Amino acid sequence: MVKNTPPMGWNTWNTFAEKINEELVLSSADVLLSSGLKDAGYEYVVIDDCWALRERDKAGRMVPDPEKFPHGMKYVADYLHARGLKFGMYSCCGTMTCAEYPASYDREYLDAAVFAEWGVDFLKYDSCFTPVYSDRKTLYRRMGAALANCGRDILYSACSWGIDETHAWIGSTGANMWRSTGDILDSWQSVKDLIKLQYKILPYGGVGCFNDMDMLIVGMNGRGHVGVTGCTEEEYKLHFAAWCLLASPLMIGCDIRNMDESAKRILTNRALIAIQQDARGCRPYLLKAQGSEDLPVIIRLLENGDLAVGFFNLLDSPANVWISTDDVGVPESAGRRLCGEELYTGKTARSLNGVFRTSLPAHACEVYRMKIVKA
Ligand code: GLA
Repeated sequence: MVKNTPPMGWNTWNTFAEKINEELVLSSADVLLSSGLKDAGYEYVVIDDCWALRERDKAGRMVPDPEKFPHGMKYVADYLHARGLKFGMYSCCGTMTCAEYPASYDREYLDAAVFAEWGVDFLKYDSCFTPVYSDRKTLYRRMGAALANCGRDILYSACSWGIDETHAWIGSTGANMWRSTGDILDSWQSVKDLIKLQYKILPYGGVGCFNDMDMLIVGMNGRGHVGVTGCTEEEYKLHFAAWCLLASPLMIGCDIRNMDESAKRILTNRALIAIQQDARGCRPYLLKAQGSEDLPVIIRLLENGDLAVGFFNLLDSPANVWISTDDVGVPESAGRRLCGEELYTGKTARSLNGVFRTSLPAHACEVYRMKIVKA
């Protein structure tokens, strides 16, 4: 499958882990439609680990747990497709999944065919229990080849956590997205760590194979499987904005059936989603305000010539931040300046004498969509 913009959807893992079933999946799909999330672009409904029986059947096929999914997976796929949604499932390149259910090692071609038969549109492919004598990149290439020959267009979502230099070989596997991180937790520390992990790998995302920073925690508020302390509203806003600017897939991880208004507002911020979905797919780059690792400024050139510029304050204290417009290709000496709107508040701002500055509370961000205008 060719996918030119990073996928968006909802995944069961962050909140529900093994507590999944047909009712949860179908009712969450209904909420994607009724809440406006689908209209905002969220279209994949992904069942993560723990959907199968612990053993394959006599024909070697994986079997959906009948207590959790009494009508099987084709039924789920049909329900989603009838509502304009897409169906995602999960397996793993090792001998068991991370939660110790059957996985696809040496069964890649059979499993890909079964997923195709069930009407699957997306496969998240994890990395646990790989035999020591096997090589991760070969295992991912195997499933890539199997999916490319299964007779159905299935988006390939690789989940090898950025280990074994994933960025160097993942593009050769046929994967459409690759997990560059270990598992996210619902805490400020985790958001901050995952953002800083990106600094070295910014060139390895974009059209072809999107860099997946892991599922969103917006709206979890400390509840559910990866719920820890939860985050403040400012921290969730910063998390979402960073994922958008870095063109990460946006896979919601909260219980959308009980989502609060703040989470809904953040997750449906159309202006930020437009940046994440920008058709040009230009890679983001990083400046460090005041040279600080904790004051990243992330910039992306957009299809219509605008610049998206995100200022992030990862410090525990307020900060004044500025960039020289010269550093983003817009020197005032060339008769141009930056002028734009902040995408959470709508406030407008412009550069002055070749400098764009703002001030940020602790753990806050501002993201501007800037026009390059005559000075
Ligand atoms: C790994 C993945 C997670 C999730 C679990 C399921 O930890 O990174 O995203 O899929 O496995 O067991």
